[in-house]
Amino acid sequence: MVIKELRPVFSPELVQNRVQELAAEIDALYKGKPLLIICVLKGGFMFFADLVRAMKHDDVQVDFVRLSSYGSATSSSEHITFNKDVEIPLQGKDVLVVEDMIDSGLTMQFLLSTLAQRGAKSLRLAILIDKHERRKVEIKPDFVGFTLEQGFIVGCGLDYAERFRTLPGIYEVIPE
Ligand code: PRP
Repeated sequence: MVIKELRPVFSPELVQNRVQELAAEIDALYKGKPLLIICVLKGGFMFFADLVRAMKHDDVQVDFVRLSSYGSATSSSEHITFNKDVEIPLQGKDVLVVEDMIDSGLTMQFLLSTLAQRGAKSLRLAILIDKHERRKVEIKPDFVGFTLEQGFIVGCGLDYAERFRTLPGIYEVIPE
């Protein structure tokens, strides 16, 4: 695909303001409670880093997962596995999963259903972008940055062929 332009969708300022709001909500919910925050690589890394820095909560552990989906190159398949699993046990913990985007929902369905079997006290989900157009399974995130109906978006961790992840805003890829 030849890219004609990256059309701004959410500016860096808007993203940072929303991240601050979410961080305050998360701080309030887990006040006084230890929290394990799990970043879903690769896409989650920007939102995760911004979110944990914006949080005042200081009794926090962090961990990382990396998932792979096999099948069609253009849409997430049903076959999802761990490339890298969590290293810290979830047993008895309040756990918050942080991810850049829900699209079909298949990735989060796999991850949340898998983690739900590991004895966490609570399991919640924070998403920067909740995109609805291609949703195949119902996922209800507990914290949502922005909702979008459609669009091929990049930035804030989201890529097109591994490009554009580090852009501080969200952009729609407009092809030639
Ligand atoms: C993207 C995104 C989510 C997933 C959402 O990850 O980061 O993990 O797709 O899609 P779904 O709701 O349709 O399952 P991707 O597989 O591109 O990997 P990446 O995070 O390494 O970019």
